[in-house]
Amino acid sequence: MTPAPETGIRTSGPLGFLDEALDALRAEGLYRHLRVLEGEQKPRARFDGRDVINLSSNNYLGFTTHPRLREAAIQAARALGAGSGSVRTIAGTMDLHLALERRIAAFKKTEAAVVFQSGFAANAGTVSALLGKEDLILSDELNHASIIDGARLSRAAIRVFPHRDTAALRQLLEETSGVKRRLVITDGVFSMDGDIARLSEVSALAREHGAIMMVDDAHASGVLGASGRGTVDHFGVHGQVDVQVGTLSKAIGVLGGYVCGSKSLIEFLYHRARPFLFSTSHPPAVAAACMAAFDVLEEEPQWIERLWSNTRRFQAGLKRLGFDTGSSETPITPILVGEAERAMRLSDLAFERGVFAQGIGFPTVAKGKARLRTIVTATHTEEELDRALEILGDAARSLGIIS
Ligand SMILES: Cc1ncc(COP(=O)(O)O)c(C=O)c1O
Repeated sequence: MTPAPETGIRTSGPLGFLDEALDALRAEGLYRHLRVLEGEQKPRARFDGRDVINLSSNNYLGFTTHPRLREAAIQAARALGAGSGSVRTIAGTMDLHLALERRIAAFKKTEAAVVFQSGFAANAGTVSALLGKEDLILSDELNHASIIDGARLSRAAIRVFPHRDTAALRQLLEETSGVKRRLVITDGVFSMDGDIARLSEVSALAREHGAIMMVDDAHASGVLGASGRGTVDHFGVHGQVDVQVGTLSKAIGVLGGYVCGSKSLIEFLYHRARPFLFSTSHPPAVAAACMAAFDVLEEEPQWIERLWSNTRRFQAGLKRLGFDTGSSETPITPILVGEAERAMRLSDLAFERGVFAQGIGFPTVAKGKARLRTIVTATHTEEELDRALEILGDAARSLGIIS
């Protein structure tokens, strides 16, 4: 038995295959070391004992440390305790949970909203509740893992259409017109490429063919649309998307996911979405901080403005350096490298020199499409972004990735 490089300890017995699987990941350059954040999630942060410019969080607006959110969380913990103590459907629905759902519904201009423990739970719980084994799900090939898992849990048939290909979607809808209940589902902003769904066309197609339309706005919440209302607002298709998912974990800076739509949709999910029924609700501090975040979104427009001006500056800088940034249209900016090992080497070298830009490889992205995934935030300074560009450029040149 050869020792595993990380620990020297090998597992024997029925779990012995795990070490072989880990060895295979190491051989492919896909083994992940979890970087440890020491201190707050900020644009300059300390990971693994090193001070770096942080381009790896989803903290788009800097809300993880916004004073109003922090204060709301502290007050709620003082007044209401550390936890909710139950699932929503038994004893764990507090006034605060309902107030947050009303706040979100008003913000998104829908009849109602339901909050889940995470965006993952919102997607997986909703797709698996709405569809059953007689049904069909039409899903963009780059949709998030939580949609894929929800689709599998539902036991509905799944047909995947090529990324953002509305002609292929139309054809699939025409071919499957005999199926009674169909769901068309797409990410609003794609999490690894930063491009935006063709939501006007996709929702019009769903409507024309009588399919349910669902969008996962995890990366559009707080980023696109007026005050960050998401892709439905960005494209002006209010009323044409039946199910809107958003997240409270990214731009909102806290934790959770939500679904917005009609009152009956939300009541149905209260009764049938399994993460809602079988998993404890948010602690009061989480709900209170999320409430504060929606106030800040509406009252402090400067954060979204800065997010976009920083994004423009950083993307222009990357292009000037000769990086391939794919088809990004949002603050998620991939630096496409190709092979996973090369991407991980670039990421490690940049980290040593003071920039944290996570390397991403298979299975999160397709083989041969490994990348550094960067996200600037509203709270990066221009100096930090320029310094990050300099470090990334030098590191990539030394590895022959750019000339
Ligand atoms: C597109 C997309 N949907 C859903 C999620 C899940 O959100 P959460 O982190 O709140 O579980 C993510 C987060 O990784 C995501 O990128």
